Amino acid sequence: MKILSVVGARPQFIKAFPVSDALRREHEEVLVHTGQHYDAELSDVFFTELGIPEPDYNLGVGSGGHAAQTAEMLVRLDEVVEAEAPDLVLVYGDTNSTLAAALVAAKRDPALAHVEAGLRSGNWSMPEEVNRVLTDHCSDFLFAPAESAAETLRREGITSGVHVTGDVGFDAILRVRDRAVEGSTVLDRLELDAGEYVLATVHRAGNTDDPARLAAVIDGLAESPLPVVLPLHPRTEAALKTHGLWDRATDALHVVDPVGYLDFVCLLDGAERVATDSGGVQKEALYLDRRCVTLREETEWVETVEAGWNVLVGADADAIARALRDDEPLPPKPSLYGDGHAAERIAEALRG
Ligand code: UD1
Ligand code: UDP
Repeated sequence: MKILSVVGARPQFIKAFPVSDALRREHEEVLVHTGQHYDAELSDVFFTELGIPEPDYNLGVGSGGHAAQTAEMLVRLDEVVEAEAPDLVLVYGDTNSTLAAALVAAKRDPALAHVEAGLRSGNWSMPEEVNRVLTDHCSDFLFAPAESAAETLRREGITSGVHVTGDVGFDAILRVRDRAVEGSTVLDRLELDAGEYVLATVHRAGNTDDPARLAAVIDGLAESPLPVVLPLHPRTEAALKTHGLWDRATDALHVVDPVGYLDFVCLLDGAERVATDSGGVQKEALYLDRRCVTLREETEWVETVEAGWNVLVGADADAIARALRDDEPLPPKPSLYGDGHAAERIAEALRG
């Protein structure tokens, strides 16, 4: 089968790492990068260190408002789909790149496959919720990371084409964990001692675009009994500067540039705990046996909370501070989100 895979943002490059590998064993893959993320530390580093094939197309769309960015992707992706005439378009997750490619496929001939189907936050103010719901409802193949996601799809009336595969993010981390922990020099470079720091990430629009929420997140993290290292997404850097919070953040936290995946996995492995509003990082914390404090009111990865390994604290400084001090023993860790072979299941399901 000729598959046109579309990526555009950091988490999608990481998900494409195992999936592209599995697809190329038995299918023809054309890889398209929309250019949504373009800084070397948000894009090139992942292709280089993970050996992801170089994209056949980079559409160079770049940043912009939701409408302009998505519209530009629609136009450029449509041209690629016309030129390549793939049998199937494959998309990941919930970004604007995901939605644009889904709409192009839905309005043209190719079938559509969605990796990470069936996840819901229930929060319609998140752009990602709109992207993932619309993408699922256009898809012919829906690759769900867990049975709960398949159940969500059933409740929404989607019953055919659903495959519970496990999480391709688990595949990715298993592939690099040893290499990252043994090979990365990030702890030395950042002068961190394993087990003696908290790893934080913040980039969700709901937190960065609201100055009160962003300030509360910074103030909550600042109350951590251990130093907090914060590899900073450019969106958050811009927001901290715009909202006059830059000095408050850099005085209290160890703010560093975003790091590559190998360094990030090493930082996760060495962290005492994790505080994040990322989707991907919540479950990566679990995969590496770290407790997670989630800086949001809801999560798509509900099993991590049900299992007692993740706590939702929102943007409430006191709740964040309490969660960073909580040392109640964790319950036994359940096995969630597959066995590390989700990518192979996806390739196999597409074999037909
Ligand atoms: C996007 C996704 C989000 C995902 C995140 C992963 C959407 C709506 N959001 O959010 O779901 O969790 O990627 O990291 O698709 N910027 C740079 N350099 C870059 C890219 C972005 O400086 O290489 C800055 C620009 O100022 C840009 C801002 O970051 O306006 C936001 O980038 P954008 O891709 O629109 O959204 P993210 O916040 O990255
Ligand atoms: N990540 C990384 N470097 C960083 C921060 C995150 O490599 O500085 C990785 C992380 O391991 C995870 C992915 O990026 O696999 C998560 O991306 P992000 O939080 O940007 O997006 P989300 O998952 O929220 O969509």
